[in-house]
Amino acid sequence: MSSPSTSPDAAKIQMFRKRLHEEWTGDRTVAAWRKWHAQIAAFTRGATEAILEAAHLRPGMRVLDLACGVGDPALSIASEVSPSGHVTATDLGPGMMSLAEELARKKGLTNIEFREANAESLPFADASFDVLTCRFGIMFFPDLSKALREGLRVLKPGGRAAFVAWGKKEQPFFTTTAGIILKHVPVPPPPPDPDGPSLFMFGERDRLRRALETAGFGNVHEEDRIIAGRWPSSVEQYWEQFTEVAAPFRPLLDQLTAEQRSQARAESLEEVKKFWNGQEVNLPLEIVIGSGMRP
Ligand SMILES: C[S@@+](CC[C@H](N)C(=O)[O-])C[C@H]1O[C@@H](n2cnc3c(N)ncnc32)[C@H](O)[C@@H]1O
Repeated sequence: MSSPSTSPDAAKIQMFRKRLHEEWTGDRTVAAWRKWHAQIAAFTRGATEAILEAAHLRPGMRVLDLACGVGDPALSIASEVSPSGHVTATDLGPGMMSLAEELARKKGLTNIEFREANAESLPFADASFDVLTCRFGIMFFPDLSKALREGLRVLKPGGRAAFVAWGKKEQPFFTTTAGIILKHVPVPPPPPDPDGPSLFMFGERDRLRRALETAGFGNVHEEDRIIAGRWPSSVEQYWEQFTEVAAPFRPLLDQLTAEQRSQARAESLEEVKKFWNGQEVNLPLEIVIGSGMRP
């Protein structure tokens, strides 16, 4: 099904905002990302490499990273643009960013600052940044066109935006975990709202390209890529991490009885084991990379 060309209405957007705010800023989410951040960083390293490449960074640049979470890719960008460049890393809530800030201090990075900011209304003057980046955040913006117009506004003319999102749902990242849980929930959730935010929305080819063009970006590119999702510890820990970290799927997990949960776990471990190479899990992850420039 192709995406609609209209924006969702105001009441729907408000509902998405409330749900997403709860999912991403709640204590459980923050605690889970604190616990697993090092393994997640290793697992998604290919996505960081992809966004660094798409952003065309150079020392001295001023970069805005949206939805920075616990600091990927903002911390790597700060190293790339140093010593004279600067990164402003932003996120919806302070919880995840507090870890990013600690990690920046440990790495001795002095050219990065953190600021609470909703991507839909950025507290920055027009034309403030050379580059805007956002890794695994764009699919959570309730009013996507508003967020993209904001991104365009704060970029300097000729400035570049680079996004990385998940590709299509039918990939092992989904089918080995959430896909299995869905088979066990007593009341399956309704399909995602076609014009609302959802994890795999940019798996629909050209959707990201169209969204960037509609917002006014020029030189727009969209690319699908398979990266290696290398999980450096056990299959059991992969499942445990998923159940704690995956905020959008937590309401489903919470519906399961102990017995259903244990059955889902057993099935998931069996599927994930197919990607165990004797040392680590190696899942092929399908991502979408989108970029565009402010004319
Ligand atoms: C999957 S995490 C990605 C974090 C990090 N960029 C990474 O790749 O690991 C999604 C992040 O999007 C943030 N987020 C969701 N909606 C947002 C919004 N409207 N404005 C800013 N950040 C948002 C969440 O708080 C969360 O930190």
